[in-house]
Amino acid sequence: MANKIDAYIAANEARHFQEMFELLRIPSVSSQKTRQAETRRCAEWTAAHCRTIGLKAEVIDTQGHPVVLAEWLGKPGKPTILIYGHYDVQPEDPVKLWNSPPFEPTVKGCKLFARGAVDDKGQFFAHLKAIEAHLKTAGELPLNIKLILEGEEEIGSPSLPAFLERHQERLANNLLVISDSGMYKKGIPTITLGLRGISYFQLNLRSCKTDLHSGSFGGAAPNAGVAAGQIIAKLKDEKGKIQVPGFYDDVRPITAAEKASFDSLPFDEQAFMDEIGLKALVGEEGYSTLERMWVRPTLDVNGLLSGYTGEGAKTVIPAEAMIKVSMRLVPDQDPEKIRQAFEAYVRRITPQGVDLEVLYFQGSVAYVADPSHPAFKAAVEALEEGFNAKAAYTREGGSIPIVNDMTRRFGVSCLLLGLGLPDENAHAPNEYLDLDNWRAGVRTFAHFYGKLGELGAF
Ligand code: BES
Ligand code: ZN
Repeated sequence: MANKIDAYIAANEARHFQEMFELLRIPSVSSQKTRQAETRRCAEWTAAHCRTIGLKAEVIDTQGHPVVLAEWLGKPGKPTILIYGHYDVQPEDPVKLWNSPPFEPTVKGCKLFARGAVDDKGQFFAHLKAIEAHLKTAGELPLNIKLILEGEEEIGSPSLPAFLERHQERLANNLLVISDSGMYKKGIPTITLGLRGISYFQLNLRSCKTDLHSGSFGGAAPNAGVAAGQIIAKLKDEKGKIQVPGFYDDVRPITAAEKASFDSLPFDEQAFMDEIGLKALVGEEGYSTLERMWVRPTLDVNGLLSGYTGEGAKTVIPAEAMIKVSMRLVPDQDPEKIRQAFEAYVRRITPQGVDLEVLYFQGSVAYVADPSHPAFKAAVEALEEGFNAKAAYTREGGSIPIVNDMTRRFGVSCLLLGLGLPDENAHAPNEYLDLDNWRAGVRTFAHFYGKLGELGAF
């Protein structure tokens, strides 16, 4: 069967690429109102495509962007997996840094360039093609499959918890499968065992009614730009420790087994720096780079605005400043507790005479998997067949906000089988998907469903 499926995948690849290009041409940017109709069109396209390959599928409205639900439930008695993905993408800005139009898929060698190519359209599309391969060669799937493809992942999945609540029974499953993460590096197929959570804020500062002449008032009037700098300087110390009181209280310590497993991965610090163009590595003292990115919490300024930023000089005291700041959270940190602690701390460190408004965008809990679940062994075997290489277990620093909610709600484990590469420019200009990985990914997923079917119950 596996051979027949592999042959089908190879024989139909050219058409599969054309279909994937159609999906990538739809600018489903969830954060932009002007793209609302396109985002819906993307949901409709995806549902229609699910029907073409033999699934039942519908587009269901939410408070925000619609959700695509698809299913094939023809194997009563066999387990059911729920595949989650997202059809929304990040904005394409800055467009002028793209070498080809972001919504015109462009192939160069083994790279397919387009916004969403890897995050996440290409990845969930690989599942659709693996499903198609089974349905078109065998007329059935080896187990039951449900798919939930949402349109708000890139904005923190605000409508999804309510959606899950409403459709909880219909979505019941034995295992969650997600391909929205990365491989450790090319040639090393990967299972991701953990994701960080997030807590995201915007701070608005105001120091006077309006901008002031810096000659007339400089030295006497508070400056919102300076206040922003002072606040930022107090968020972390020189050793990379976050200064918010209580921030580390619940952080789960790294286990010896985790440490050993990270240390067993090939990691060349210089090559890592070269790949992303860094002159130095920073971070919390006492931890390795992988530990800092995967299992330690962090704080970053994501955006900063104040004063005159146009051409030449302008002598002005800015009345306003804006800081976007987020923290990546690790297991056992509670986003709600972090929210309160952070807000209280920034209020305390805001200089006198400056008004502070705190906006909170999103919070999500970190996730860590238990690899002793039998599906993980099946996934390792499938990855090794699909990629013809030994699989690795890693963690990721990024977040998929709904994972924790879903695993708890359904009482299941989550398998993160990502096809991305660290240099694929997710969220940045020239995002691409490695087509060799994609090809191997489709094979892997098809084999994986087969192995899960053979496992019987789990
Ligand atoms: N695909 C990513 C998640 C991801 C990133 C997994 C890096 C593994 C490594 C996802 O689409 C994403 O970008 N998530 C956001 C969530 C945020 C908007 C709440 C993130 O991590 O920034
Ligand atoms: Zn993303």
